[in-house]
Amino acid sequence: MTNTLMSGKTCLITGATAGIGLATAAALARQGATVIGVGRDAAKCAEVQARLRQAAGAPAVTYLTADLASLAEVRRLAGAFTATYPRLDVLVNNVGAFYMGRRLSADGIEMTWALNYLGVCLLTDLLLPALKTSAPALKTSAPARIVTISSDMHRSARLNFDDLQGARQFSGMKAYGQSKLAQVMWTYDLARRLAGTGVTANALHPGFVASDLYQTSFGNRKWLSALLKLIALSNEQGAATSVYLASSPEVEGVTGQYFAKKKAVRSSAASYDSAATARLMEITAGMVESGAVASR
Ligand SMILES: NC(=O)c1ccc[n+]([C@@H]2O[C@H](COP(=O)([O-])OP(=O)(O)OC[C@H]3O[C@@H](n4cnc5c(N)ncnc54)[C@H](OP(=O)(O)O)[C@@H]3O)[C@@H](O)[C@H]2O)c1
Repeated sequence: MTNTLMSGKTCLITGATAGIGLATAAALARQGATVIGVGRDAAKCAEVQARLRQAAGAPAVTYLTADLASLAEVRRLAGAFTATYPRLDVLVNNVGAFYMGRRLSADGIEMTWALNYLGVCLLTDLLLPALKTSAPALKTSAPARIVTISSDMHRSARLNFDDLQGARQFSGMKAYGQSKLAQVMWTYDLARRLAGTGVTANALHPGFVASDLYQTSFGNRKWLSALLKLIALSNEQGAATSVYLASSPEVEGVTGQYFAKKKAVRSSAASYDSAATARLMEITAGMVESGAVASR
């Protein structure tokens, strides 16, 4: 079903070629938004773009290609976006992956940390001017929105400041949980920094979703796919809270919150640790600037 809730709004959605991100892109396009999806594979981007244009019945869906685990690629993407689009109403930081084994990004940064956390911070930072442009002069109405897909996996995580990139001891689960906790802490800090600008920032848990995430991580197994379809949410159901935070008038002006099932809920106690957040922000700024701090 189409509506015009988002007509005139520009939305950038990362990780929009599969899973929750693709379902989010489709839903926002159906609501009339101009959707710019980001994927890493040009052929897949072209195929998904054609499919969405047909399904949404509108040509206002475009894909840009970038490997978001690379800081140089993130910079290139932000440049390509801002060269074409003067404003950005909604940024959906959806991209994310789980890696069983430790591997390094092009910048020499552990992949989970590079993709799920650092790339998200850098892209958002580079797009803040476009988001601030979209926020109206009257800062209380229809602000621009940053929506970041975290995970309830953050709840059992701690930031291991002595070995943030698992150089000494690596666990895929711990790295994933840590990156998701860092996203929540960064979101809260970002919301504080953006107070008064008309730009809101919230994080969310999408639920347990039968996306490609598990196939990509554990191998493409038919039984796994069948099991997930039985016990997990569909991609469309998983996208519901992202779409809600991106477009619903009910959350206009709401910022610095963690959502699940379209409700603001408490995140883990660790996510509210202000001293750890300050330390994380300092480390993040250094890593984004230097681009390669493999030993940290
Ligand atoms: N599924 C769950 O149960 C669940 C639960 C909690 C949180 N989440 C979070 O939800 C978000 C969406 O995940 P999903 O479950 O929808 O996963 P998914 O189906 O695997 O989709 C991930 C998306 O990210 C893209 N991507 C992966 N690596 C990339 C890179 N280096 N550069 C650019 N794009 C890249 C993928 O592109 P390709 O199409 O080329 O692979 C795909 O579009 C993630 O942040 C995830 O952590 C998921």
